[in-house]
Amino acid sequence: MTAKLYWGTSINVTFDADLCLHAAECLRGAPAVFDIHRKPWVLPDRGDAFEVARVVERCPTGALKYSFVREYLPGETGETTAQVVAKSDGPVWLRGDFTLVTDDGATPQTRIALCRCASSANLPFCDGSGPCTEWRPSRPTPS
Ligand code: FES
Repeated sequence: MTAKLYWGTSINVTFDADLCLHAAECLRGAPAVFDIHRKPWVLPDRGDAFEVARVVERCPTGALKYSFVREYLPGETGETTAQVVAKSDGPVWLRGDFTLVTDDGATPQTRIALCRCASSANLPFCDGSGPCTEWRPSRPTPS
């Protein structure tokens, strides 16, 4: 995974294109901050830092993450109880505080979409190349 960093004065945002499944929560939630027709497409200073954080936390795959510039502000933490949603037409959604253990090691996570069909070129993550392409954001996802 390689994430691109977008600096802000109060909040920094990272985006990992390999994890994005185009749920568009960011575009709907903060269109002044996230605009795919602009370069750079993420401008963290175009919104209130706490609102930007709230919108980033709606990204169901964890493609977007944030950190506040002031270290005394809390970073993202997931819900204490992890939630796993496995529907027949999409990836397996995980949300909460949990650790993902792969051959590359263990990493703390709060939001990811795992491939359930083995079609992904980015295993264990869903890349939208399998039957999950029928999934649309209007379908139930972890809240
Ligand atoms: S579930 Fe999405 S690529 Fe497999």
